[in-house]
Amino acid sequence: MMPARLLWGPCMTPWAFVLLLSCVLPRGHQGQMFPLHLESPAAVPAAGGPILVNCSTECPNPSRLTLETFLPKQLNGSGPGWATFWLSNLTEDSTIICSVLCDDMQVTASSNITLYHGANFSCRTELDLRSEGLELFLNTSASRQLRTFALPMTAPHLLAPRSLEVGERRPVTCSLDGLFPSSEAQVYLVLGNQSLTPEVMRDGDMLKATATVYMDQEGTQKIVCNVTLGGMSRSAQTLTTVFSFLGPLLSLSNTRVTKGSTVNVTCTAGPRAQVILDGVLAPSLGKPVQLQLAAADSDDGRRFICNATLEVAGELIHRSTAVQLRVLDSKLSSVIIVLTVLTVLALVTISGALVFVFGMQQRCGTYHVKQPSISMTLWAMEREDIRGEEAP
Ligand SMILES: *[C@@H]1O[C@H](CO)[C@@H](O)[C@H](O)[C@H]1NC(C)=O
Ligand SMILES: *[C@@H]1O[C@H](CO)[C@@H](O)[C@H](O)[C@H]1NC(C)=O
Ligand SMILES: *[C@@H]1O[C@H](CO)[C@@H](O)[C@H](O)[C@H]1NC(C)=O
Ligand SMILES: *[C@@H]1O[C@H](CO)[C@@H](O)[C@H](O)[C@H]1NC(C)=O
Ligand SMILES: *[C@@H]1O[C@H](CO)[C@@H](O)[C@H](O)[C@H]1NC(C)=O
Ligand SMILES: *[C@@H]1O[C@H](CO)[C@@H](O)[C@H](O)[C@H]1NC(C)=O
Ligand SMILES: *[C@@H]1O[C@H](CO)[C@@H](O)[C@H](O)[C@H]1NC(C)=O
Ligand SMILES: *[C@@H]1O[C@H](CO)[C@@H](O)[C@H](O)[C@H]1NC(C)=O
Ligand SMILES: *[C@@H]1O[C@H](CO)[C@@H](O)[C@H](O)[C@H]1NC(C)=O
Ligand SMILES: *[C@@H]1O[C@H](CO)[C@@H](O)[C@H](O)[C@H]1NC(C)=O
Repeated sequence: MMPARLLWGPCMTPWAFVLLLSCVLPRGHQGQMFPLHLESPAAVPAAGGPILVNCSTECPNPSRLTLETFLPKQLNGSGPGWATFWLSNLTEDSTIICSVLCDDMQVTASSNITLYHGANFSCRTELDLRSEGLELFLNTSASRQLRTFALPMTAPHLLAPRSLEVGERRPVTCSLDGLFPSSEAQVYLVLGNQSLTPEVMRDGDMLKATATVYMDQEGTQKIVCNVTLGGMSRSAQTLTTVFSFLGPLLSLSNTRVTKGSTVNVTCTAGPRAQVILDGVLAPSLGKPVQLQLAAADSDDGRRFICNATLEVAGELIHRSTAVQLRVLDSKLSSVIIVLTVLTVLALVTISGALVFVFGMQQRCGTYHVKQPSISMTLWAMEREDIRGEEAP
């Protein structure tokens, strides 16, 4: 618990709405929200020159950014929220600590720098026959380089699907931590007899490879990940079952039937699937279920659901499908038929009447045409109208 005086001190200032907020937040919370990053090489050669480290924070108002180390250090540069230092005289493995004050809260980050010994050596032979009045024979073998690699004893972490549907694309990742130098580590990812081309990401001494797997045939396939560094390798493997799962295929002998007629409902789902149609279990795996029913009024709109289950590598995969039945009421059907007949009759009557009326009109028209004087008068009036519009 914090003394009340400390809590209230800054909050009493009249303009401190923001400060009030920071008082309400538990102290130190702010600092933890803005972590400190210390970037340094994880491993450096023993007799190597000075190394550069960068200490940075996302804290909006940092103060007293310092690097604590036994090594001689020199500031290289700094900017808002970061500072870089040169460290020299690295003769043994060291731990460096960076610290900063963020809203009066001290945040620290540490990093270990490991030394490795990279040396070149060669073999020199001398045969001194000068005492015999001969010469000094000298020979030096080709120089060989001694290199240090770090490859953990643990197997890579391989993340792959236990089952894969034919034609489906799924990611596979393989990662291994503690590699030095990770830039020289090679990773191989293999599915069955096909070599995958993974996308490889390296971060510090970690390596992560990601590839997409795809198979067009059923069967069990081995996925192998192999990380090789400095002539040694670590590998991990897993099995994936490639399966195909069609359906379920659900069919009705007829989706629209009249009351009383027989309907067959059938569901199948491939050779190894267990099928349940409308609660009726197939006698064995791979067998279809068939139901036969005489369509009743109550079956109108009935949905038949077929569930299929396939077991793949100990996992159950469920799929289902549904189909709906329409039952046409026979009474309703006769009403529809009567209505249809009536409609047709009405249409025939109406069209007959129309034909009669139209025929009369035609006859009237013919009668008018037989009197050319009337036609002449109409024509003249139309022409007058047009002229009237033209003259303003
Ligand atoms: C140090 O790191 C910070 C944060 O990543 C970055 O902004 C800054 O440019 C770096 N400084 C140098 C000299 O690389
Ligand atoms: C900081 O380091 C860079 C190389 O990383 C160098 O070019 C620059 O001169 C250095 N600055 C100081 C002030 O040491
Ligand atoms: C370098 O480190 C060694 C051993 O840690 C120490 O004896 C030596 O004084 C250091 N040299 C400098 C220049 O700091
Ligand atoms: C540095 O090394 C020490 C001792 O081996 C270990 O306890 C610590 O966790 C290491 N720190 C980091 C950041 O790896
Ligand atoms: C060792 O020899 C290699 C070439 O074989 C060279 O690149 C490297 O700089 C040499 N290392 C040292 C420490 O002399
Ligand atoms: C020096 O040794 C190499 C094999 O290490 C040999 O091939 C070469 O002939 C020798 N040179 C002389 C001058 O003996
Ligand atoms: C890989 O194996 C399949 C059968 O599993 C075979 O048909 C194919 O030819 C093989 N491919 C290679 C490159 O060996
Ligand atoms: C890893 O792959 C390399 C290259 O293909 C091979 O030489 C090595 O034997 C493999 N190692 C293991 C453990 O599979
Ligand atoms: C329904 O199936 C039976 C046999 O299972 C068959 O005899 C009958 O013709 C089928 N009916 C229809 C409408 O398909
Ligand atoms: C069939 O599957 C559906 C949806 O997946 C589910 O709601 C229903 O309970 C299942 N019925 C049976 C009999 O398994």
